[in-house]
Amino acid sequence: MNLNLNNNIIKPLEYTGYSLKILDQRLLPSQEIYLEFTEADEIIKAMKAMIVRGAPAIGLAGAWACCLAAKNPELKDNENQLIEKFEEIKEARPTAVNLSKAIERMKLSLKEKGLNSLEEEAEAIFNEDQEMCQMMAVYGLTLLPNKSEYKFITHCNTGSLATAGIGTALGLIKFLAGQKKKVKVFATETRPYLQGSRLTAWELNKCQIPVTLMPDSATAYLMSKENIDAVFVGADRIVANGDTANKIGTYTLALLAREFKIPFYVVAPSTSIDLSLSSGAEIEIEQRESSELTEFNGLKIAPSGIEVFNPSFDITPGNLITAFITEKGILNIEKLKNIL
Ligand code: MRU
Repeated sequence: MNLNLNNNIIKPLEYTGYSLKILDQRLLPSQEIYLEFTEADEIIKAMKAMIVRGAPAIGLAGAWACCLAAKNPELKDNENQLIEKFEEIKEARPTAVNLSKAIERMKLSLKEKGLNSLEEEAEAIFNEDQEMCQMMAVYGLTLLPNKSEYKFITHCNTGSLATAGIGTALGLIKFLAGQKKKVKVFATETRPYLQGSRLTAWELNKCQIPVTLMPDSATAYLMSKENIDAVFVGADRIVANGDTANKIGTYTLALLAREFKIPFYVVAPSTSIDLSLSSGAEIEIEQRESSELTEFNGLKIAPSGIEVFNPSFDITPGNLITAFITEKGILNIEKLKNIL
Protein backbone atom coordinates (compact mmCIF):
# COMPACT_ATOMS: atom_id res chain seq x y z
CA MET A 1 0.00 0.00 0.00
CA ASN A 2 1.40 3.37 -0.94
CA LEU A 3 0.29 5.83 1.72
CA ASN A 4 0.51 9.49 0.98
CA LEU A 5 0.15 11.28 4.28
CA ASN A 6 1.41 14.67 3.27
CA ASN A 7 -0.29 17.81 2.35
CA ASN A 8 0.75 17.55 -1.27
CA ILE A 9 -2.52 15.70 -1.80
CA ILE A 10 -4.71 17.70 0.60
CA LYS A 11 -4.20 21.44 0.80
CA PRO A 12 -6.95 23.30 2.60
CA LEU A 13 -5.32 26.68 1.92
CA GLU A 14 -3.01 28.18 -0.66
CA TYR A 15 -1.70 31.72 -0.46
CA THR A 16 -0.73 33.17 -3.84
CA GLY A 17 0.68 36.55 -2.81
CA TYR A 18 -2.45 38.40 -3.96
CA SER A 19 -5.20 35.97 -2.90
CA LEU A 20 -6.02 33.05 -0.64
CA LYS A 21 -7.37 29.91 -2.28
CA ILE A 22 -9.52 27.88 0.09
CA LEU A 23 -10.72 24.35 -0.53
CA ASP A 24 -14.47 24.61 0.04
CA GLN A 25 -14.95 22.06 2.81
CA ARG A 26 -18.74 22.51 2.65
CA LEU A 27 -18.75 20.66 -0.67
CA LEU A 28 -16.65 17.66 0.39
CA PRO A 29 -16.80 14.76 -0.26
CA SER A 30 -18.81 15.37 -3.46
CA GLN A 31 -16.72 18.13 -5.03
CA GLU A 32 -13.17 19.43 -4.61
CA ILE A 33 -13.45 23.11 -5.46
CA TYR A 34 -11.17 25.98 -4.46
CA LEU A 35 -12.63 29.44 -3.94
CA GLU A 36 -10.29 32.39 -4.34
CA PHE A 37 -10.45 35.37 -1.97
CA THR A 38 -8.64 38.68 -2.26
CA GLU A 39 -10.26 40.57 0.63
CA ALA A 40 -9.97 39.97 4.39
CA ASP A 41 -13.73 40.51 4.77
CA GLU A 42 -14.45 37.64 2.39
CA ILE A 43 -12.14 35.37 4.39
CA ILE A 44 -13.91 36.31 7.62
CA LYS A 45 -17.18 35.20 5.96
CA ALA A 46 -15.51 32.00 4.71
CA MET A 47 -14.34 31.14 8.22
CA LYS A 48 -17.82 31.76 9.65
CA ALA A 49 -19.40 29.68 6.88
CA MET A 50 -16.97 26.79 7.57
CA ILE A 51 -15.49 26.89 4.07
CA VAL A 52 -12.28 26.49 6.08
CA ARG A 53 -12.44 25.03 9.59
CA GLY A 54 -10.31 23.29 12.20
CA ALA A 55 -8.40 25.33 14.79
CA PRO A 56 -4.92 25.50 13.20
CA ALA A 57 -6.31 26.06 9.68
CA ILE A 58 -8.52 28.88 10.97
CA GLY A 59 -5.40 30.48 12.49
CA LEU A 60 -3.59 30.23 9.15
CA ALA A 61 -6.52 31.62 7.19
CA GLY A 62 -6.63 34.49 9.69
CA ALA A 63 -2.91 35.20 9.27
CA TRP A 64 -3.24 35.34 5.50
CA ALA A 65 -6.38 37.46 5.80
CA CYS A 66 -4.15 39.96 7.66
CA CYS A 67 -1.68 39.92 4.73
CA LEU A 68 -4.50 40.67 2.28
CA ALA A 69 -5.92 43.41 4.53
CA ALA A 70 -2.46 45.00 4.46
CA LYS A 71 -2.66 45.18 0.64
CA ASN A 72 -6.03 46.95 0.70
CA PRO A 73 -5.42 50.56 -0.47
CA GLU A 74 -7.86 51.89 2.14
CA LEU A 75 -6.15 50.15 5.05
CA LYS A 76 -2.49 49.82 4.28
CA ASP A 77 -1.50 53.39 5.13
CA ASN A 78 -3.60 53.59 8.27
CA GLU A 79 -2.18 51.38 11.00
CA ASN A 80 -5.08 51.93 13.41
CA GLN A 81 -7.66 50.86 10.84
CA LEU A 82 -5.54 47.91 9.82
CA ILE A 83 -5.27 46.75 13.44
CA GLU A 84 -9.07 47.14 13.72
CA LYS A 85 -9.44 44.81 10.72
CA PHE A 86 -7.04 42.32 12.36
CA GLU A 87 -9.29 42.41 15.46
CA GLU A 88 -12.35 41.73 13.29
CA ILE A 89 -10.61 38.72 11.78
CA LYS A 90 -9.85 37.46 15.30
CA GLU A 91 -13.56 37.44 16.17
CA ALA A 92 -14.60 35.26 13.21
CA ARG A 93 -14.58 32.04 15.26
CA PRO A 94 -14.07 32.74 18.95
CA THR A 95 -13.50 29.31 20.53
CA ALA A 96 -10.29 28.25 18.74
CA VAL A 97 -7.44 30.09 20.46
CA ASN A 98 -5.15 29.39 17.47
CA LEU A 99 -6.90 32.20 15.61
CA SER A 100 -6.36 34.84 18.28
CA LYS A 101 -2.77 33.70 18.81
CA ALA A 102 -2.06 33.95 15.06
CA ILE A 103 -3.59 37.42 14.89
CA GLU A 104 -1.61 38.61 17.93
CA ARG A 105 1.56 37.46 16.16
CA MET A 106 0.57 39.36 13.03
CA LYS A 107 -0.12 42.49 15.08
CA LEU A 108 3.25 42.27 16.79
CA SER A 109 5.01 41.73 13.49
CA LEU A 110 3.24 44.77 12.00
CA LYS A 111 4.17 46.94 14.99
CA GLU A 112 7.77 45.79 15.26
CA LYS A 113 8.75 45.15 11.63
CA GLY A 114 6.15 46.87 9.48
CA LEU A 115 3.82 45.90 6.62
CA ASN A 116 6.43 44.04 4.63
CA SER A 117 7.01 41.53 7.40
CA LEU A 118 3.46 40.13 7.39
CA GLU A 119 3.76 37.53 4.65
CA GLU A 120 6.93 36.18 6.19
CA GLU A 121 5.18 35.90 9.55
CA ALA A 122 2.19 34.05 8.04
CA GLU A 123 4.58 31.72 6.23
CA ALA A 124 6.38 31.07 9.53
CA ILE A 125 3.08 30.21 11.25
CA PHE A 126 2.34 27.80 8.38
CA ASN A 127 5.75 26.09 8.52
CA GLU A 128 5.70 25.82 12.30
CA ASP A 129 2.25 24.22 12.21
CA GLN A 130 3.45 21.67 9.67
CA GLU A 131 6.43 20.77 11.88
CA MET A 132 4.29 20.61 15.04
CA CYS A 133 1.98 18.08 13.35
CA GLN A 134 4.97 15.87 12.62
CA MET A 135 6.31 16.10 16.20
CA MET A 136 2.92 15.33 17.76
CA ALA A 137 2.76 12.15 15.68
CA VAL A 138 6.28 11.13 16.72
CA TYR A 139 5.56 11.70 20.43
CA GLY A 140 2.11 10.10 20.17
CA LEU A 141 3.53 6.85 18.88
CA THR A 142 5.69 6.47 22.00
CA LEU A 143 2.50 6.04 24.03
CA LEU A 144 1.26 3.07 22.08
CA PRO A 145 2.09 -0.53 22.93
CA ASN A 146 3.82 -2.43 20.14
CA LYS A 147 1.04 -4.40 18.44
CA SER A 148 0.28 -5.63 14.96
CA GLU A 149 -3.19 -4.12 14.85
CA TYR A 150 -4.74 -1.06 16.48
CA LYS A 151 -8.31 0.13 16.80
CA PHE A 152 -8.94 3.81 17.45
CA ILE A 153 -11.90 6.13 17.70
CA THR A 154 -11.61 9.70 16.44
CA HIS A 155 -14.06 12.57 16.37
CA CYS A 156 -14.56 15.52 14.00
CA ASN A 157 -11.76 16.20 11.49
CA THR A 158 -8.28 16.89 12.80
CA GLY A 159 -6.27 15.98 9.72
CA SER A 160 -4.66 17.80 6.81
CA LEU A 161 -7.94 19.58 6.16
CA ALA A 162 -7.62 21.23 9.57
CA THR A 163 -3.90 22.04 9.65
CA ALA A 164 -0.85 22.89 7.54
CA GLY A 165 0.50 19.35 7.86
CA ILE A 166 -0.64 15.78 8.41
CA GLY A 167 -2.97 16.84 11.20
CA THR A 168 -3.13 16.46 15.00
CA ALA A 169 -5.16 13.47 16.24
CA LEU A 170 -5.76 12.21 12.72
CA GLY A 171 -2.14 13.02 11.80
CA LEU A 172 -0.92 10.67 14.51
CA ILE A 173 -3.20 7.89 13.27
CA LYS A 174 -2.07 8.48 9.66
CA PHE A 175 1.56 8.47 10.75
CA LEU A 176 1.12 5.12 12.52
CA ALA A 177 -0.56 3.67 9.42
CA GLY A 178 2.44 4.91 7.45
CA GLN A 179 4.70 2.74 9.66
CA LYS A 180 3.08 -0.29 8.02
CA LYS A 181 0.93 -0.94 11.09
CA LYS A 182 -2.60 -2.23 10.65
CA VAL A 183 -4.87 0.54 11.83
CA LYS A 184 -8.64 0.44 12.04
CA VAL A 185 -10.20 3.85 12.51
CA PHE A 186 -13.73 4.30 13.77
CA ALA A 187 -14.78 7.81 12.80
CA THR A 188 -17.84 9.40 14.36
CA GLU A 189 -20.18 11.15 11.96
CA THR A 190 -19.80 14.27 14.14
CA ARG A 191 -23.28 15.66 14.10
CA PRO A 192 -24.64 18.07 13.13
CA TYR A 193 -22.01 19.40 10.71
CA LEU A 194 -20.72 15.93 9.77
CA GLN A 195 -16.99 16.69 9.81
CA GLY A 196 -16.46 12.97 10.49
CA SER A 197 -18.44 11.53 7.60
CA ARG A 198 -17.80 14.30 5.10
CA LEU A 199 -14.18 15.16 5.92
CA THR A 200 -12.39 12.52 8.01
CA ALA A 201 -13.77 9.61 6.00
CA TRP A 202 -12.83 11.45 2.78
CA GLU A 203 -9.33 12.25 4.02
CA LEU A 204 -8.64 8.69 5.20
CA ASN A 205 -9.94 7.32 1.92
CA LYS A 206 -7.62 9.66 0.09
CA CYS A 207 -4.70 8.34 2.19
CA GLN A 208 -5.92 4.75 1.65
CA ILE A 209 -6.36 4.11 5.36
CA PRO A 210 -9.34 1.91 6.29
CA VAL A 211 -12.10 3.78 8.07
CA THR A 212 -15.40 2.69 9.55
CA LEU A 213 -18.02 5.39 9.89
CA MET A 214 -20.48 5.31 12.78
CA PRO A 215 -23.18 7.53 14.24
CA ASP A 216 -22.00 9.48 17.28
CA SER A 217 -24.65 7.63 19.28
CA ALA A 218 -23.03 4.22 18.56
CA THR A 219 -19.92 4.90 20.61
CA ALA A 220 -20.93 3.20 23.88
CA TYR A 221 -22.06 0.09 22.02
CA LEU A 222 -18.86 0.04 19.95
CA MET A 223 -16.72 0.37 23.08
CA SER A 224 -18.59 -2.51 24.70
CA LYS A 225 -18.03 -4.75 21.66
CA GLU A 226 -14.55 -3.91 20.34
CA ASN A 227 -11.15 -3.72 21.98
CA ILE A 228 -10.50 -0.05 21.34
CA ASP A 229 -6.87 0.94 22.01
CA ALA A 230 -7.43 4.67 22.36
CA VAL A 231 -9.61 7.65 21.55
CA PHE A 232 -7.73 10.49 19.82
CA VAL A 233 -9.29 13.94 19.52
CA GLY A 234 -8.04 17.45 18.77
CA ALA A 235 -8.60 20.68 20.66
CA ASP A 236 -9.75 24.22 20.02
CA ARG A 237 -8.56 25.54 23.38
CA ILE A 238 -6.87 23.87 26.33
CA VAL A 239 -6.83 25.98 29.49
CA ALA A 240 -4.63 25.95 32.59
CA ASN A 241 -6.52 23.24 34.51
CA GLY A 242 -6.56 20.96 31.45
CA ASP A 243 -10.20 21.60 30.54
CA THR A 244 -10.43 21.33 26.79
CA ALA A 245 -12.85 22.84 24.30
CA ASN A 246 -13.32 20.65 21.25
CA LYS A 247 -16.06 19.63 18.83
CA ILE A 248 -19.41 18.98 20.46
CA GLY A 249 -19.57 15.33 21.51
CA THR A 250 -15.97 15.17 22.75
CA TYR A 251 -17.07 15.34 26.39
CA THR A 252 -19.45 12.40 25.89
CA LEU A 253 -16.64 10.38 24.30
CA ALA A 254 -14.33 11.15 27.23
CA LEU A 255 -16.94 10.04 29.78
CA LEU A 256 -17.49 6.81 27.85
CA ALA A 257 -13.75 6.20 27.52
CA ARG A 258 -13.45 6.54 31.32
CA GLU A 259 -16.30 4.03 31.80
CA PHE A 260 -14.69 1.51 29.43
CA LYS A 261 -11.12 2.19 30.68
CA ILE A 262 -9.93 3.32 27.26
CA PRO A 263 -7.10 5.92 27.12
CA PHE A 264 -8.44 9.29 25.99
CA TYR A 265 -5.83 11.51 24.34
CA VAL A 266 -6.02 15.14 23.25
CA VAL A 267 -3.56 15.79 20.43
CA ALA A 268 -2.90 19.49 19.94
CA PRO A 269 -0.09 21.94 19.23
CA SER A 270 0.96 24.46 21.88
CA THR A 271 -0.87 27.08 19.78
CA SER A 272 -4.11 25.53 21.13
CA ILE A 273 -3.08 26.09 24.76
CA ASP A 274 -4.40 29.15 26.58
CA LEU A 275 -2.96 29.54 30.06
CA SER A 276 -4.65 32.91 30.49
CA LEU A 277 -7.87 31.10 31.40
CA SER A 278 -7.94 29.04 34.56
CA SER A 279 -10.92 26.80 33.80
CA GLY A 280 -13.13 25.69 30.93
CA ALA A 281 -16.04 27.70 32.32
CA GLU A 282 -14.28 30.82 31.01
CA ILE A 283 -14.09 29.60 27.39
CA GLU A 284 -16.47 31.26 24.96
CA ILE A 285 -18.41 28.52 23.19
CA GLU A 286 -19.59 29.36 19.70
CA GLN A 287 -23.29 28.73 19.09
CA ARG A 288 -24.20 27.84 15.51
CA GLU A 289 -27.25 28.41 13.34
CA SER A 290 -30.39 26.45 14.23
CA SER A 291 -30.72 25.47 10.55
CA GLU A 292 -27.78 23.05 11.04
CA LEU A 293 -30.27 20.97 13.05
CA THR A 294 -33.60 21.82 11.52
CA GLU A 295 -32.67 21.41 7.85
CA PHE A 296 -30.82 18.90 5.75
CA ASN A 297 -29.80 20.05 2.28
CA GLY A 298 -32.55 22.66 2.42
CA LEU A 299 -35.18 20.10 3.49
CA LYS A 300 -36.98 20.72 6.81
CA ILE A 301 -36.31 17.92 9.30
CA ALA A 302 -37.77 19.59 12.41
CA PRO A 303 -40.93 21.62 13.08
CA SER A 304 -40.74 25.30 12.09
CA GLY A 305 -39.84 27.65 14.90
CA ILE A 306 -38.51 24.90 17.20
CA GLU A 307 -36.07 26.07 19.88
CA VAL A 308 -32.59 24.70 19.19
CA PHE A 309 -29.47 24.17 21.32
CA ASN A 310 -26.54 23.94 18.92
CA PRO A 311 -23.18 24.61 20.60
CA SER A 312 -20.30 23.97 18.22
CA PHE A 313 -18.01 22.80 21.01
CA ASP A 314 -18.10 21.35 24.51
CA ILE A 315 -15.67 21.34 27.40
CA THR A 316 -14.06 18.09 28.49
CA PRO A 317 -12.84 18.35 32.09
CA GLY A 318 -9.06 17.94 32.31
CA ASN A 319 -9.37 15.00 34.70
CA LEU A 320 -10.98 12.87 31.97
CA ILE A 321 -7.97 13.35 29.67
CA THR A 322 -5.31 10.64 29.96
CA ALA A 323 -2.62 12.87 28.43
CA PHE A 324 -2.05 15.80 26.09
CA ILE A 325 0.10 14.96 23.08
CA THR A 326 1.84 18.15 21.95
CA GLU A 327 4.83 18.99 19.78
CA LYS A 328 6.75 19.57 23.03
CA GLY A 329 6.07 16.07 24.35
CA ILE A 330 3.46 14.16 26.29
CA LEU A 331 2.03 16.34 29.02
CA ASN A 332 -0.19 15.87 32.02
CA ILE A 333 -2.11 18.75 33.56
CA GLU A 334 0.78 19.75 35.83
CA LYS A 335 3.30 19.84 32.98
CA LEU A 336 0.84 21.77 30.81
CA LYS A 337 1.31 24.79 33.06
CA ASN A 338 5.05 24.95 32.36
CA ILE A 339 4.86 24.55 28.61
CA LEU A 340 4.52 28.10 27.29
O1 MRU B 1 -16.09 23.55 13.93
P1 MRU B 1 -14.79 22.98 13.43
O2 MRU B 1 -14.93 21.99 12.33
O3 MRU B 1 -13.79 24.06 13.14
O4 MRU B 1 -14.24 22.18 14.71
C1 MRU B 1 -13.02 21.50 14.60
C2 MRU B 1 -12.64 20.79 15.85
O5 MRU B 1 -13.31 20.83 16.86
C3 MRU B 1 -11.28 20.14 15.84
O6 MRU B 1 -11.29 19.00 16.64
C4 MRU B 1 -10.23 21.11 16.37
O7 MRU B 1 -10.37 22.36 15.75
C5 MRU B 1 -8.85 20.61 16.15
S1 MRU B 1 -8.42 20.55 14.42
C6 MRU B 1 -6.81 20.01 14.38
